[in-house]
Amino acid sequence: MSIHTRPIPSRARVGAKPPRGSVSAALAALDRAPSDPAALRAFVATLAKADMERARSARFEAALARALAEPSVCNLTIQSFASAYLAGRFMAAADKADGKVDVPPGLLNLTIAHLYHRLNVSLALEPFLIAFRRDLLEAARDGRAVSAQQIALAEALARHSFTCEYIWLEAEAETKALETVQRQVETAIAQGADVPALPLFVLGAYRPLDRIPALRAWVALQAAQGLERLDPTLRLLVFDRLQEEALIPRIETLTAIEDATSAAVQAQYEENPYPRWRHLGRRTPVDFKTYLSRELALAPALTASAPAQARVLVAGCGTGQHPISLALSLTGATVLAIDLSRASLAYASREARVRGVENLGFAHADILKLDGLEDAFDLIEAMGVLHHMRDPEAGLAVLVKALRPGGFLRLGLYSRLARRAVIAMRSRIATVGYRPDLEGMRAFRRDFFLDRLYAEAPELCSFRDFYATSELRDLIFHVQERDYTTSELAEMLDRNGLEFLGFSGLDADIMQRYRAETPDDPTGTDLAAWGRFEDRHPETFRGMYRLSCRKAAPSAVSPA
Ligand SMILES: C[S@@+](CC[C@H](N)C(=O)[O-])C[C@H]1O[C@@H](n2cnc3c(N)ncnc32)[C@H](O)[C@@H]1O
Repeated sequence: MSIHTRPIPSRARVGAKPPRGSVSAALAALDRAPSDPAALRAFVATLAKADMERARSARFEAALARALAEPSVCNLTIQSFASAYLAGRFMAAADKADGKVDVPPGLLNLTIAHLYHRLNVSLALEPFLIAFRRDLLEAARDGRAVSAQQIALAEALARHSFTCEYIWLEAEAETKALETVQRQVETAIAQGADVPALPLFVLGAYRPLDRIPALRAWVALQAAQGLERLDPTLRLLVFDRLQEEALIPRIETLTAIEDATSAAVQAQYEENPYPRWRHLGRRTPVDFKTYLSRELALAPALTASAPAQARVLVAGCGTGQHPISLALSLTGATVLAIDLSRASLAYASREARVRGVENLGFAHADILKLDGLEDAFDLIEAMGVLHHMRDPEAGLAVLVKALRPGGFLRLGLYSRLARRAVIAMRSRIATVGYRPDLEGMRAFRRDFFLDRLYAEAPELCSFRDFYATSELRDLIFHVQERDYTTSELAEMLDRNGLEFLGFSGLDADIMQRYRAETPDDPTGTDLAAWGRFEDRHPETFRGMYRLSCRKAAPSAVSPA
């Protein structure tokens, strides 16, 4: 198969990582058990240090394709690796003179596996994928015969468009061609004929199929005849969405949403529930104490008083990846997950049902209004939430009140230093006036891609959030956000009676460097020392500050 692409702006090319290490031992293990999930996870663990050039072989690509398809492989490594690897392969195959790319079948199979299961996070790969989509659209419009592999590619593109939420640019000619393709699909449905796969998947590669009335009715009818016979892609693209619509009115309401900022934030996440996830990492279920040391990085002395059966609140649970993973990881716990967005809660609730999670409940609520809860939880987690409130500290005070004395709190808050490029781009977006809707975000990405904005913040395209609509909106188009420094964090914790217990979620090499550079803070609990460390290494909290804290226990009453 061959495609034609437009030239990629040279500075926007995301190259392969530098050569480091080898994957041969993991490949040898996979030769013995090609589809063993543990062997595939071990293979993926070697990718961060893999030398892409040296690793390249048909055997390696086949293993990578199987790892992409393995549901228990859920980390960003495989997604970034596969995106960069494919980008490198396509750029090497592209003829500089006429932009023609001859794609060998093995490479196409790997591309299909990547798109079918994951999100592309390479700006350099995107034009090649867009060219594939356009070629398939033209084939569908013209009624040309295509191979089974091309139909598989169209299906993978449809699934990927669901995941990236249709963020890719679309030319006017494509919009026009798509009208013909949509008519083909609707006519086949109306006539009760077989719906041809190519037009159906091509349509799905451009438009959310659940928004097309004829397709909604057609899929609902098929599902009623037996869900097990429904095509898995139609299930993902249409049936699951219909399920969520049905779940929305059934979500329990815990509080009203009255605060103006909460209402604006709610509106954003009703339109773009965040994030649109599909894979869940596999964590061995553990008791509460072990969970606290594994996830919150707490020393055993700190967890000694933790109860065996934890009551947990996930405040601002989004689409549920976090509370579902938490509920499955924590034995004997009961988990309540709340959010402002009913659409997000419906996504979460459907995923929880599919995965058979029983110790988890969802409710619609504003954190600000949970002030009736007192001493109700042993652990509260609010990751990436409070910084979207007009007065985050008012939200924090409510959470602290809901925590039992001595209870644990995990917070995710933006770092001003780590997000400086994002902050600068947010003000650029406000100046230019890009709208926070699909068209506005596509226009922003077009200008970024054409090198006009890239020069201002090249690091933006290394955020995974750049590649999907809800995530891009969350990253740089958010209706409300603020950010922090470590000294602001220290003051805020102090004012709210919280003891800082350390940061979690940092790579082992960052922790190692911190210990080496800061020997006088062996417990990692000195926020001033962390502040100096961050000044030296401004990317440390690129994700977020993930703080572990404890609510002060009441001091013993002294005898009269
Ligand atoms: C960036 S998302 C993070 C979602 C999730 N914690 C995660 O890490 O994937 C922020 C979420 O916080 C929710 N949120 C923001 N303010 C809230 C409030 N006042 N009460 C409840 N939820 C809130 C939003 O609706 C949104 O789903």
